Amino acid sequence: MKTTVSIIKADIGSIAGHAVTHQALKDKCNENLQEAKDSGLLSDFHITNCGDDIDMIMTHTNGVENEEVHKLAFDTFMAGTKIARELKLYGAGQDLLSDTFSGNIKGMGPGCAEMEFKERGADPVFAYCCDKTEPGAFNLPIFKMFADPFNTAGLVIDPKLHGGFDFEVYDVIENKKVILSCPDEMYDLLALIGSTGRYVIKHVYRRSDNEIAASISTDRLNLMAGKYIGKDDPVAIVRSQSGFPAGGETTEAFAFPHLVSGWMRGSHNGPLMPTSVANARPLRFDGPPRVLGLGFQVSDAKLIGPIDMFDDPAFDNARETATKVSNYMRRHGPFEPHRLPAEEMEYTSLPGVMEKLEKRFEDI
Ligand code: F6R
Ligand code: MG
Ligand code: MG
Repeated sequence: MKTTVSIIKADIGSIAGHAVTHQALKDKCNENLQEAKDSGLLSDFHITNCGDDIDMIMTHTNGVENEEVHKLAFDTFMAGTKIARELKLYGAGQDLLSDTFSGNIKGMGPGCAEMEFKERGADPVFAYCCDKTEPGAFNLPIFKMFADPFNTAGLVIDPKLHGGFDFEVYDVIENKKVILSCPDEMYDLLALIGSTGRYVIKHVYRRSDNEIAASISTDRLNLMAGKYIGKDDPVAIVRSQSGFPAGGETTEAFAFPHLVSGWMRGSHNGPLMPTSVANARPLRFDGPPRVLGLGFQVSDAKLIGPIDMFDDPAFDNARETATKVSNYMRRHGPFEPHRLPAEEMEYTSLPGVMEKLEKRFEDI
């Protein structure tokens, strides 16, 4: 029997603007998922939040893209939205693009990362959840985990990792995908995934046996809706140990707080700060962007844990660096490269300004 891990997440409303979701919404999610667990649809679940996003980490035996599981998530977010509206929370139901479920949660607003695998004797699985950034934020750390020997010692040392990994990359603008093998095609891979707004790593597979290693949500809310309605704060599921990167090789990939797109109004570059669950609250200039990490053992489709992976003083330095980088970037105000380049802001109000000024532009 195979186990499925599904993380389905959405921002359905928050307190103090787009800062932090409300406990009542998480309680509602808890109630609905508990019912689904009692009925046997789910084997287990864990609910967390990164800022204004609720992340429902679920295990079951129904496979990926299961209609019942997706419907459960959608209905749960709808029920949470009702409460968010009653409380007049900010952005109530903001990620739900439709109020009727149509078979698959894809394209309906919430983000979704899933994988199915046959459990090993002991199976560590990590959930990484972000706020105030976009799916391409995972490109660099996922690349480091599965292709960079300076991050993942196992790629050099452990024969079980030495064969490398295949990266499935989505072109989220053209809706196409390609698989590139590392280390052989590393430079081609980097040529694509350095463009984080367009090319996004969706899945990683171990080359030796095609075993699933990582799955990332790639949903781009702003592109789906046709106008800017928020960044698509992503989540990732990463398998670890015994032929995959060690737990510490997955966390290490976040020790460098790299610059990602998002932050204030989804329109700025800022450092991705790794934080504990308690500090996954982006309060400065609606940021800086956050990532939290939860480590589990998956056991007969039950979630044992989690361990709060960035609740460790060893990440204080990454957080200090992120704060220093925030200070530096903020001083650019509305100038690039703090503010995103105009091409990446085409779903924001910038074209509105251009429209207004169009007639006043003269040939030079
Ligand atoms: C970014 C984000 C926030 C909002 C900002 C303005 O993803 O959610 O930074 O863009 O707080 O929000 P509105 O337009 O709702 O006033
Ligand atoms: Mg919000
Ligand atoms: Mg968010």
